[in-house]
Amino acid sequence: ELKAVIFDLDGVITDTAEYHFIAWKQLAEELGITFDRAFNEQLKGVSRMESLERILALGGQADRYTMAEKEALADKKNEHYKQLIARMTPDDLLPGILDLLRELKRENVKIGLASASKNAFTVIERLQIGEYFDTIVDAAKVKNSKPHPEIFLTAAKQLQVDPSACVGVEDAQAGVAAIQAANMFAIGVGDEEALKEADYIVQTTAELTYDVIVRAFHRE
Ligand code: G6P
Ligand code: MG
Repeated sequence: ELKAVIFDLDGVITDTAEYHFIAWKQLAEELGITFDRAFNEQLKGVSRMESLERILALGGQADRYTMAEKEALADKKNEHYKQLIARMTPDDLLPGILDLLRELKRENVKIGLASASKNAFTVIERLQIGEYFDTIVDAAKVKNSKPHPEIFLTAAKQLQVDPSACVGVEDAQAGVAAIQAANMFAIGVGDEEALKEADYIVQTTAELTYDVIVRAFHRE
């Protein structure tokens, strides 16, 4: 029986995945590195520093900067990102998400958030949806990044639900892998090719309803 749904934030609840992309792309261009959306798929769900490392490696610049310089570059990206999220409002919730959160509450399904972002609380506040979450696990509370299952397992533990009764919702390859490593049912939102490992895929959040999730979970 479905007892909890644990959501990723960026790219699932709201389109901040696009803001991360814009901010990384601008930094990369300043460094003379070009990257496209296909490469960006690999950055989704990945921590700030690891994302920078992957971009530098893409540009053949893995050994060019000191640790202090890398921190400055990551800070620069984050300042740009913070400017982009400062303007967010509840209108920036992705289609169907608010209805889904309400439906889950009505059905007594617990709701968790598992986000690798240090900006997760700010984004949730801007969207004014904090009241819906029974637990929020962000980057500050876990040691291991996705695809490690720690963040999803921590959320399940705090919700006091067995992982086998949880559904995880993700837009990232690393996130889908983390959900499956936690022994949960993985729903992918977005590109079918990028998310082919997921147990169930929807193209957009508009398709995500309680019924769709329950049916997928029971493999009907
Ligand atoms: C999420 C996003 C990633 C981002 C990471 C860290 O996982 O999908 O794109 O790099 O969070 O976000 P932060 O806000 O801490 O830089
Ligand atoms: Mg995401």
